[in-house]
Amino acid sequence: MKYITCAIIILLPGLALSVSPVFVLPGLAPSSWFENLAVRPNGLILATRGDAPEIWQINPATGQGAKLMTVIGAFNLTGIAEITSGHHSQEQKREETYVFGSSYIPAPLQVEPGSAKVWTLRFGNGITPTVSLLAELPKAGFINGVAAWGSRRVLLGDTIEEAVYLMDVDTGFFTTPLTNMTGINGVQTAPGYIYWANHALQRLSRIPVDNDAFHTGPAEILATDQAIDDFALAIDKTGRGRAFIGAMYDNAVVQVVFGPPPNSGTGVKSIVAGNLSGTGVGLCAVVVLGRRAEDIGVLYASVNMGGGNAAIVAISTR
Ligand SMILES: *[C@@H]1O[C@H](CO)[C@@H](O)[C@H](O)[C@H]1NC(C)=O
Ligand SMILES: *[C@@H]1O[C@H](CO)[C@@H](O)[C@H](O)[C@H]1NC(C)=O
Ligand SMILES: *[C@@H]1O[C@H](CO)[C@@H](O)[C@H](O)[C@H]1NC(C)=O
Repeated sequence: MKYITCAIIILLPGLALSVSPVFVLPGLAPSSWFENLAVRPNGLILATRGDAPEIWQINPATGQGAKLMTVIGAFNLTGIAEITSGHHSQEQKREETYVFGSSYIPAPLQVEPGSAKVWTLRFGNGITPTVSLLAELPKAGFINGVAAWGSRRVLLGDTIEEAVYLMDVDTGFFTTPLTNMTGINGVQTAPGYIYWANHALQRLSRIPVDNDAFHTGPAEILATDQAIDDFALAIDKTGRGRAFIGAMYDNAVVQVVFGPPPNSGTGVKSIVAGNLSGTGVGLCAVVVLGRRAEDIGVLYASVNMGGGNAAIVAISTR
């Protein structure tokens, strides 16, 4: 659900766009951070807090947001992604399922070994969504990026173990198809490809994979020398398109435009929007794309550590 056809977004290189505030976490929480975002089919934004075991839900049209839930048994929440259902009955179509991660992160850059967990969040037909523990991963290091893979499976990037796991959303059973993924942070997918951020080497790459996420060819580097956390993809069926990158402490959203595989070379980079926090300092951890007709071409980004509370901003590329 994270890729759309690239004809929809036409951006002039070098043209920085304006940033509008959507939401600021209420209360006094100057060291708060939103680690990841997911846009629901109804346009509402789900935001995982890195500094508390909370998921917030924000309506970007009104700027209203509220805590959706506290996750009992978690400390700090990480990546979140919607799962594609393989079932087609009306009943199951209505159910919306997300997978998210958690770890115990007592202090910045300090992850408690063996604390990683994976959870499911379900919006059924009832009013209140439910959360359940899908798996504890005592041997994992730090589940960071999460992305849907086919129907009812999810890819989990482990920054510390430098691996990608492929987990069944119904059983929690998982394999480890990709290893040696140094610095892996955000993970996104397109049919037949995994795209990932390497924050240690400051790269965006992609690799062709089979149905079980084993690589079928060499990886391609799409961007270098780029501060990078999680990112959104807008690509066409050939794999040509762009990534919108949360550029960490650069406090900016950076676009990289690249060609189709297998040998597109590094893409062309430009700053879509800078000074996201409006204070000159801040951390952008994630960028997501609007999904409904009225917010196609809108990017939502998290803004953390900007001197105030965690926030979400919108950038219109239309
Ligand atoms: C992790 O969450 C706990 C609360 O569950 C909080 O005290 C701690 O500050 C958080 N860590 C970071 C780095 O924000
Ligand atoms: C792991 O990746 C690095 C570069 O990212 C490469 O230099 C190294 O050879 C790889 N090691 C293995 C075992 O594939
Ligand atoms: C960031 O934006 C604020 C508000 O517009 C402005 O006052 C400040 O000078 C900007 N800082 C930088 C480094 O661009």
